[in-house]
Amino acid sequence: MLGRVNRPGNTGAVGRGTARGQTPGLIEAHELTKRFGDKVAVDHLSFTVEPGRVTGFLGPNGAGKSTTMRLICGLDRPDAGTAAIGGLAYHQLARPLATVGALLEARSAHPGRGARNHLLFLAQTQGFPARRADEVIDLVGLRDAARKRVGGFSLGMTQRLGIAAAMLGDPRVLLLDEPGNGLDPEGIRWVRTFMRQLAAEGRTVLVSSHLMSEMSVTADHLIVIGRGKLIADASTQEFIQRSSERSVLVRTPDPARLRKLITAEGGTVASEDSADGVASLAVTGIAAPRIGELAASASVVLHELTPRVASLEEAFMELTADSVEFGDASAGAGGANRGAR
Ligand SMILES: Nc1ncnc2c1ncn2[C@@H]1O[C@H](COP(=O)(O)OP(=O)(O)O)[C@@H](O)[C@H]1O
Ligand SMILES: [Mg+2]
Repeated sequence: MLGRVNRPGNTGAVGRGTARGQTPGLIEAHELTKRFGDKVAVDHLSFTVEPGRVTGFLGPNGAGKSTTMRLICGLDRPDAGTAAIGGLAYHQLARPLATVGALLEARSAHPGRGARNHLLFLAQTQGFPARRADEVIDLVGLRDAARKRVGGFSLGMTQRLGIAAAMLGDPRVLLLDEPGNGLDPEGIRWVRTFMRQLAAEGRTVLVSSHLMSEMSVTADHLIVIGRGKLIADASTQEFIQRSSERSVLVRTPDPARLRKLITAEGGTVASEDSADGVASLAVTGIAAPRIGELAASASVVLHELTPRVASLEEAFMELTADSVEFGDASAGAGGANRGAR
């Protein structure tokens, strides 16, 4: 049994479980590794997730997001490395369910049970007061459906119920695995607003998705993985700036002179190819209007001048292109492939 001596920092708020000198709610993965047979699902993954902001956990299907989240909340054991919350492993937390709430599988409710009864049952078995059931029902906007059978719930309502269950212990850390999956735009907006609220309250919010577009408007910070490995760890803003490197497409029958003008101005011709006597140049480092001015001042004819911005989705695809798990090659090996969710 873990005695109180193992939690010297836990003098105040009971169940908040934080080791001495550690930031409460800080998630730390260190060289986290998980294998399924020959398959390395999570591969020496290290990152931290800070409280007070929404951190997007991004990666294509099969990247290892769900496995990592299961490791963080103690549902799986790592083969190597560690995952800690406030400096403690999940099994060291005094009241784990009051520290970490997780939405991992949305469909864990008994279909014949009413939503409120389902939450009451969970509250009772997890040692939380019954009033928490009503509080979390209000929190996720399910009051009108509180007595309806869970079996008749839409996917959006099921997700809300799952989030309500995760909030029962008023946890400081929330792990949400693809909460937007299958939701309509209204549902996605609700989840987004809810996560931002939780972060604004100072909680740690780690939310996974395989959709860059969804995360770019939700998350403050992004951790991108592919094939179990870390690909990027940056603020969303930084990520957008880095990945939307602007270029301008210029088509001209006089590439040699234009090239000179561009390089003299400090620009770069990233690529050039030609067809039918007209060259297409991809120019970086100078904005389109300035290229037009330079061309006009030297009477260089332009056939086209088009600013190009790589979309975030494109940047993400590019970033993870080598790490997408193709086909179902692993499915044959003992039928262990659980699928992407
Ligand atoms: N219980 C399991 N048994 C065998 N393979 C698994 C199991 N869970 C996950 N995997 C495999 O590990 C890899 C990562 O899966 P997962 O963590 O679900 O990825 P993601 O959530 O990013 O889609 C995939 O190849 C998946 O098939
Ligand atoms: Mg998953």
